Amino acid sequence: MANVVVVGAQWGDEGKGKIVDWLSERADVIARFQGGHNAGHTLVIGEKVFKLSLLPSGIVRDGKLAVIGNGVVLDPWSLFAEIDKLTAQGVNISADRLMIAENTPLILPLHQDLDKLREEAAGKAKIGTTGRGIGPAYEDKVGRRTIRVADLADEETLDARLDRLLAHHDALRKGLGAEPINRAELKAKLLEVAPQLLPYARPVWKIMAEARKSGKRILFEGAQGSLLDIDFGTYPYVTSSTTMSGAAASGTGMGPGAVDFVLGIVKAYTTRVGEGPFPTELDDDDGQRLGERGHEFGTVTGRKRRCGWFDAVLVRQTCAISGVNGIALTKLDVLDGFDKLKICVGYEIDGVTYDYLPTAAALQARVKPIYEEMDGWHESTAGARSWADLPAAAIKYVRRVEELIDCPVAMLSTSPERDDTILVTDPFAD
Ligand code: IMP
Repeated sequence: MANVVVVGAQWGDEGKGKIVDWLSERADVIARFQGGHNAGHTLVIGEKVFKLSLLPSGIVRDGKLAVIGNGVVLDPWSLFAEIDKLTAQGVNISADRLMIAENTPLILPLHQDLDKLREEAAGKAKIGTTGRGIGPAYEDKVGRRTIRVADLADEETLDARLDRLLAHHDALRKGLGAEPINRAELKAKLLEVAPQLLPYARPVWKIMAEARKSGKRILFEGAQGSLLDIDFGTYPYVTSSTTMSGAAASGTGMGPGAVDFVLGIVKAYTTRVGEGPFPTELDDDDGQRLGERGHEFGTVTGRKRRCGWFDAVLVRQTCAISGVNGIALTKLDVLDGFDKLKICVGYEIDGVTYDYLPTAAALQARVKPIYEEMDGWHESTAGARSWADLPAAAIKYVRRVEELIDCPVAMLSTSPERDDTILVTDPFAD
């Protein structure tokens, strides 16, 4: 059976929610492997709109197993708020449908405090995080002082973990002018949430191995985007997890052979939320128009997204690093009605041409995009379900994108509705 990883191939917000939902109908197991509740996936199913931040998209479909892997950082209070919201929308969530890796690190209120304190202290140099405590939680994980799900089962272990964690955080907080943590209050909060959370805690690596052995189809649901990757993104303006496809296996406890197809989600133009380099950003009417037509406001924070032309250089780069087998191209209809469209095909830095984005921040700051201009189209592509429904200029644009990024289009999404999709290659096909 084919197992599929879905990753965002730009700066997140590529429209993964719809594609993941489309695929999750065909999958048996849907697993999150990185990130936390900084993600925002919107699913439109019939009349209902579901907004998910932490839960795998498969949770809204009966009969699917939703898994939160060890590569995720988990805020238990936010998890239960999301579960309550979905339950009110009629979704049935129980421990036989949702499984959380026992070795998943927790996000605590102190991580959110630190995220915000640091952003405030950084002033203009801020990252523009979602304020969810993601970075500080990952720091504590690799710093070997985090509290993991399984630690909640034993008070003595929890005490020892708290001692180690607070010794670090109280010192940090002092430096930032914040009060020390109220240990008793935090411990009480953790002991209170423990009996709610522990029933979901499982050896996920084992469940995944069994699923694979019994021929179940697994969908690995990436969050954020490749250009926010901790190593390959526009550092330090990135998130704190590995958003590349390679993390799907390690973030759930599987070997690299578990993945058969990597689907990169690519928006027909470019957006980014938060600070950091963005070579094709538009500060003009075209940028404004992309934002308005594309409803480019963050699902999690409501922030206005920065918009720009399609950057083929960056997408070619992320497709290579994630080993993308095919892309799902989304939001093509947002480009309807432009007389001319531009695609970035290279960069110029100090008179030198580059076919990739160099790592050095000083070079990134001086990048000038080299554009190729294409004819736009005036017909509507919204809701197209076959190539025959698309104007010739739109097909030409898609073909040029494929050529430039060196990767074929597997799916083309033409509206938020799940059936408005042109399928070229089924990622789950053996
Ligand atoms: P953090 O993940 O909250 O630490 O934020 C770090 C950077 O990643 C910021 O630029 C955020 O705007 C960005 N970011 C985090 N999650 C998402 C997402 O789901 N979509 C788009 N950008 C995101």
